Amino acid sequence: MGIQRIESVTYGINDLAQCVGFFDDFGLFLVERTDEHAVFETLTGQTLRLDTDPGSLLPPPVENGPTLREVVWGVDTPQELHRLAAELGHDRKVRSSADGVHHTVDETGFGVGLTLARPKPAPVTLRPANALGGVNRWNTALEPITRVRPLRMCHVALNIPKHGKDEAVAFYTERLGFRPTDVVEPMGVFMQAPGDDDQHTMLLCHRPDNAGVNHIAYEVPGFDDVVEGGNYMIEHGWREARRLGRHTIGSNVFRFLHAPCGGRVEYAADMDRVDDRYETRVHESTPPHHIWALRTNRDQEAPAQS
Ligand SMILES: [Fe+2]
Repeated sequence: MGIQRIESVTYGINDLAQCVGFFDDFGLFLVERTDEHAVFETLTGQTLRLDTDPGSLLPPPVENGPTLREVVWGVDTPQELHRLAAELGHDRKVRSSADGVHHTVDETGFGVGLTLARPKPAPVTLRPANALGGVNRWNTALEPITRVRPLRMCHVALNIPKHGKDEAVAFYTERLGFRPTDVVEPMGVFMQAPGDDDQHTMLLCHRPDNAGVNHIAYEVPGFDDVVEGGNYMIEHGWREARRLGRHTIGSNVFRFLHAPCGGRVEYAADMDRVDDRYETRVHESTPPHHIWALRTNRDQEAPAQS
């Protein structure tokens, strides 16, 4: 089948203590820490590396300041891993590290790695919901979640220069087996990894001339986690980047935060799942960004009643 999921990401950063504080508050699990780097895990065993000196196996950063340096994709079998690495080796240097990762670079300059997927089963406890005609929770009051724990990194969104965008997309679709799910001609291409059910595992977003990390999204079990996770981050001094809302493409509920490692991170829940019956949709104009976003007028002066 091929690529299943994001297995690992590496950011090149300046302020390790600040970045560790951010992802600790975000709800990831710290599994390794030195003076130079730190490693966090999601509940399903994907790793986030924060590194002040990411090393010579990675290409140079595509933008100034802290940023994403590499996305390592998890592949289902050793045969498929070998096949993909050999195929990429036809037109670019592929280097292998002792930990079994094959490292190369995409058309934009982002590091791309391939390794065997090692998914851990995650303890997902969904909150039973109640509505007239559909009662799933009796005699039990809800408690605050308090500490939100992301299940997994579910998608990565990268900014790519408009010039050469078709080649940048083709690297992922023709070489690595991703399938375009929604092509938004003025904006970018949403695509799904062959082993994933999510409506998108990756978004390549055109920008006039600059490349960089846009965001990485982390799936949480439900709507409450998105809200409470964002609230916890705000209470701990981190800055929200968008108001709570639900996207048009993918239907996921989202909250975004500015991340000190570069770009933003997203708490995401309830994304569309799609399979082969979902035909690629091509949009000539950009659909609205969201179905809804949180609005309030409680802090405004009340308008005079007529
Ligand atoms: Fe997203």
